[in-house]
Amino acid sequence: MEKRDELYAGKAKSVYGTDDPNRLILHFRDDTSAFDGKRKEALERKGMVNNKFNAFIMDKLQAAGIPTHFEKLLSDTECLVKKLDMIPVECVVRNLAAGGLVRRLGVEEGIELVPPTFELFLKNDEKGDPMINESLAQTFGWATSDQLSRMKALTFQVNDVLKQLFQDGDMLLVDYKLEFGVFDGEILLGDEFSPDGCRLWDAKTREKMDKDRFRQGLGGVIEAYEEVGRRIGVNFG
Ligand code: C5P
Repeated sequence: MEKRDELYAGKAKSVYGTDDPNRLILHFRDDTSAFDGKRKEALERKGMVNNKFNAFIMDKLQAAGIPTHFEKLLSDTECLVKKLDMIPVECVVRNLAAGGLVRRLGVEEGIELVPPTFELFLKNDEKGDPMINESLAQTFGWATSDQLSRMKALTFQVNDVLKQLFQDGDMLLVDYKLEFGVFDGEILLGDEFSPDGCRLWDAKTREKMDKDRFRQGLGGVIEAYEEVGRRIGVNFG
């Protein structure tokens, strides 16, 4: 597989073309951003940690029958993925109240959400990733009704697999965001799953072990990501 030009630079990852028009290389950088890119910092080892964390999770999901774009690790900070036609809609499931839900509805942080909630957001930094719904997504052509149903079903399947995985490591999967795309007419999980895009708390102390450490200036960000990985069996080498 030959690496070609950089096609796109996101806030934490860069995307490269390859000699295969249907494959891309994702490069996980050390850059970390929050608040729609308004706060940025490079955190040593983050690219490597998130790349290996993501590979581990994508393998678990694939093994559980959830189709993903992930193909293989290429290096400490790079992996090979299928080239998706991305759907600009972020799917968020919450098992416990935190973050945006607490701010929006004024509910107490940490209350259990039964059943878990499902929310949609438009992927658009300039507009601050506004909350949307299925009606808006269909009317504005961001996703079809069939695509939205499939995305919702897959997002909840991911919850079943990952809630248990993190529970076995004495952690609570509080919430997470997923992105999907289309490959050969099929919806596949795209983007990444790492502590950058989910909330994880220690089950006993409820200590935050995810990107909220960066957002809230708590320090020990990468150390926490590595601890999460260690508890579920990720090999960082
Ligand atoms: O901010 P909010 O509480 O809505 O985020 C819910 C979950 O989705 C969190 O785990 C957060 O890290 C993730 N998220 C994300 N990227 C966004 C928005 C939210 O990874 N653009």
